[in-house]
Formats: sequence, structure tokens, C-alpha cells
Amino acid sequence: MLRPDDVDHLRCPACRQGLRFRGYVARGRLDRGELICTGCPASYQVFAGIAELYREEEVRGGDRAMRIIYDRLAVLHDPLVRFSFPLALGESEATSRARYLERLDLEALAREVRGERAARILEIGAGTGSNVPLVRARLPPGLAADLWAVDLSMGMLRLLAERMRFLGDAETRFAAADAHALPFPDGFFDRVFHVGGIAGYRDPRRALAEMVRVARPCTPILVVDERLDPDRPHSLFHRLFFRWVTIYDRDPHVPIEHLPADAHDVRIEQVGRFFYGLTFRVAAPISPRKPRRRAAAKPSARDSRSASRPKAAVRSRPSAPKSKGVRARRPKKQP
Ligand SMILES: C[S@@+](CC[C@H](N)C(=O)[O-])C[C@H]1O[C@@H](n2cnc3c(N)ncnc32)[C@H](O)[C@@H]1O
Repeated sequence: MLRPDDVDHLRCPACRQGLRFRGYVARGRLDRGELICTGCPASYQVFAGIAELYREEEVRGGDRAMRIIYDRLAVLHDPLVRFSFPLALGESEATSRARYLERLDLEALAREVRGERAARILEIGAGTGSNVPLVRARLPPGLAADLWAVDLSMGMLRLLAERMRFLGDAETRFAAADAHALPFPDGFFDRVFHVGGIAGYRDPRRALAEMVRVARPCTPILVVDERLDPDRPHSLFHRLFFRWVTIYDRDPHVPIEHLPADAHDVRIEQVGRFFYGLTFRVAAPISPRKPRRRAAAKPSARDSRSASRPKAAVRSRPSAPKSKGVRARRPKKQP
């Protein structure tokens, strides 16, 4: 749920201008009404405490199919993860989640925000919110932190809302949003992470670019999704189980071909038999330097090419990440 003052931090997913709320507030939270864009004709519904901050016409292809599945089968998600995964993976859900959440380096947040404001953490595709209490438990003591959770499925978000009520967590902000057009300003979050869905997104490259856009420059971004551990043997049961959970994806792999060219500190690890963890950072976009005043000599074609590409901004793509089992892939053709 969102508070009235959260509206200042929201952006229209269509044009990225600010929003204003018109409607009813109940117990200090937006209850129903609409969020109206201040820059374009778009408006977004708030109903039963959940804001729908995405454009329906943009939800296409795999996302639409996934949303139908998650909406219909939302109640099965948690029992499946809790009981069938330990059976197949040989470890509890909590153990496997703890392993990848460690990569968020939450301990460093206290040093980074230095008490000047609350730290901001975003989970994209948060589902029923299983990671939320685990993230809270890992925060440095005394650190004020705002957790935001977004997902495209209202079925999953309703369960997330129930979980928050059950836990007495009135602080976590949640809303419906599409990973391809996040309703937040540039550089807003101190940590951004995503678990378990990017392979099914209609455009993983754009989803990664959105993660980068809303993350503060150089902050860790974590993506966890399915890949069969290339470094250990798997029984037929493991292979069939893995095939079943990744039925929508012909080739589950780490999407390094979609990382922005200036991603650095790229780290790929296997964080369980079925999951990789990809962490990376991206520096602030470097604004082009103002051209120096020159004598009236006409620049050569070569000069003008390099002038439009400031030197400092050119970072080489990280060479082969250090971890094991990473396959180089050719970039997929864009539609
Ligand atoms: C396997 S669940 C993972 C949920 C949660 N992260 C977890 O670890 O339990 C994947 C989630 O991604 C969401 N999702 C799928 N496509 C999405 C999109 N385009 N934008 C945002 N969320 C999306 C689904 O609704 C679903 O809740």
C-alpha cells in the first residue's frame, strides 16, 4: 500500500512525469481513486489499496500469459515453493533465499546512506512477498529502510498484502507495475533486485535497463532466475523437475547478452542447483562535455564522430565474468 507522501516519488510509466492522487485515503494509505499524470493524459486506478501503475496496452506476449497463470494459480505458488523445491533441491526455501539475498550487501547500506534518509530497496516481480521479511531481517540494526515491492499480477499482490497484514508490516510499499516500465524516478533506489521471472518477460533487455535506470549509480543490482547448475551432475528426476519449472523457456540461462554495455563488477554464481545469481553495477551516466571553443577550423568526419561520444563514457563490456559455467551467447535479435 502507498501513503499519500509516496506519491511524490512515483512517476507515470508512460511519460515519467509526476503523479497526483485524487481519491480516498484510509488509515493513512491510498485506498481508492486514481493517480493522475501531471504531464500526459494517463491515469492509474487505485482499488482496495493497490495502485495499478502500468499501462494495460503495454502488457503483451509472455507477460500477459504469465499474468494469467500467476493470477489464477497465486494460492499454489507458496506451497509449491515451500514443499516441492526442498524435495528437488535438497535444501529449504529459507536457506536458498538467504544465499542470494546475501549478494545485496545490505550491511553496506548504513555506511552509504549515513542516516541522512531511509535506505530504499526495490523488489521487482515480488510475487507474494516471500523475500520482504527476509530482507528486513538482514538490514543493519537501526537502519531506517523503505522497502518497495512491485508485481504485475494482482492475484500475487493480494497475497502479498495478506502476508504484510499477518506480519504486521505496515511499512512495505507495494503496487502493481510492469518490470518494463517502472513507475519510479531515475536513481531512486539504493538496492534493486529481482527473483524468478525475467526469463519469462517479453523483453529482458528492457527490464534490465529499467532496473539500472531506477537504481542509484554504482549500487548492486541482483537478478536471480533459473539455470541448471552446469558444474554438478543431475539425476533424471532433477532434469525433469527443472524442465517442468522452466516450461516457458527453451533455454534457461544467465541473460548476460542483455546487460548494459557499461555494467561492471559483473558476478555470476550458481546459488542453488536450479538458480543463478547475477549481480552487477552501472555507473552514473556521464553527461557529454560542453564542446570547447575552438578556432574556426572545420572538424574532420573522424573528430565529429568522437565528439559525440565522450571518452570517459566509453567503458568496455566486462570481460568474461569470473565465475564458472558462464556461456557466451550471441545477442538475440530484437523484434
Ligand atoms: C516465480 S514468481 C517469483 C516471486 C518472488 N520474487 C519470489 O521470489 O517468490 C515471478 C513473479 O514475477 C511476476 N511477473 C511476471 N511478469 C512480470 C512483469 N512484466 N512485471 C512485473 N512482475 C512480473 C509474476 O506475477 C510473479 O509474481
